[in-house]
Amino acid sequence: MKILVEKSEPLKGEISAGGSKNAALPIMAASILCADKCSIYNIPNLTDTDNMKNIMQSLGCVIKGNEFDSSNLCGFEAPYEEVKKLRGSFLLASPLLARVGRAQIPLPGGCPIGTRPIDLHLKGLRAMGAKINATHGVVDISCKRLKGARIYLDFPSVGATENLIMAAVTAKGTTVIENAAQEPEVEDLCDFLNKQGAHILGAGSGTINIEGIKKLKGVSHHIIPDRIEAGTYLAAFAITRGSGRVKNVRSEHQKPLMAKFTEMGVRLYEDGEDLLIDATGTEKSVNIKTMPYPGFPTDMQAQFSSVLSVANGTGVVVETVFENRFLHISELLRMGADIRIDGRTSVIEGVKRLTGAKVEAFDLRGAAALALAGLVAEGETEISGAEHIMRGYEDFCGKLRGAGAKITAQKD
Ligand code: UD1
Repeated sequence: MKILVEKSEPLKGEISAGGSKNAALPIMAASILCADKCSIYNIPNLTDTDNMKNIMQSLGCVIKGNEFDSSNLCGFEAPYEEVKKLRGSFLLASPLLARVGRAQIPLPGGCPIGTRPIDLHLKGLRAMGAKINATHGVVDISCKRLKGARIYLDFPSVGATENLIMAAVTAKGTTVIENAAQEPEVEDLCDFLNKQGAHILGAGSGTINIEGIKKLKGVSHHIIPDRIEAGTYLAAFAITRGSGRVKNVRSEHQKPLMAKFTEMGVRLYEDGEDLLIDATGTEKSVNIKTMPYPGFPTDMQAQFSSVLSVANGTGVVVETVFENRFLHISELLRMGADIRIDGRTSVIEGVKRLTGAKVEAFDLRGAAALALAGLVAEGETEISGAEHIMRGYEDFCGKLRGAGAKITAQKD
């Protein structure tokens, strides 16, 4: 798929964010933990969520609209062809293990932004009594009933925290996860599980306590708004020096981003579940350093780099979370950006203008970053590999067009 973008007027109007992809994936997986039906609302319509549904259906889950029924769960082997499409599929490890005592999942492997190992997930599960065998590219995890443990994560990994919470909810005894990820998506997962009867304390902090219980009950749950999708639309207003409203935002989840936009001279106003943005003035460059939440999100680094590429002055971007997350930079250079990379740091000298070019997207957020740059580049930008966008943004082009952007998606 290609995305074609033409230089656009400053964006104006409203854009709505949908449900959070990164909250939906673990919550869908967690629905396997309980044998009752669960209703999950506000799941975004994305290739990642579709692929997750396909894997769950192949394991015997019945999914009708918002209803997830895993009462007839009949398998523990996740199919390679589906698993390789999304790394989030490894979030099925703990729910399967807890429900049927076994999970066989092909190693999710690397991806362009980094090697993305799963050692922290496995270390925690081992501490809880699981036996783990990894041969022929498949991780085979088994345990009759997991037991609570005290687990210290060497890094506050989002996925490892989520897998270990799901493992602990029905384990025997108490689990304490230290140096846990504090992302809002982890908190949303815990809200879902606590509604089902789980005993989780400390979600959203660095120490999470989980008292194991025997059984969970079916509930309904509404997924939180997607802070990265909303952040990307804020960046679209900012890069075009536009003004408008991003709807369906939890501003408490956007503090790191809001702080940086404010430092640049962009004005933001909270209005209930909306954020108003006025980026009609000049924008001065700032430095950013990606960190686990509540630090600046790595998932916004690429889009923010596009904004910095046309801001006034020099901005330094340090990526501390993933080792290879500057793939969009070579493509921004084709568009006339002035950026130097040194290891995990990129130095961005703001330029007066970018020029449209043929560029390639290698990952989801990089694709969004190139589309944003295309909005202010003279002439036309053609982004190949744009199917990445559909993994994380529902109707990306349509939503931006609603605010005046000249952007369309085209099948190859
Ligand atoms: C999740 C998000 C992703 C986001 C990332 C960081 C989902 C579905 N995806 O990914 O969009 O970019 O958080 O905010 O929620 N690590 C290890 N060993 C492990 C696990 C992770 O070394 O066992 C490392 C990774 O290589 C990476 C860092 O920890 O360098 C962060 O990864 P992690 O927080 O686990 O990201 P994901 O959960 O995969």
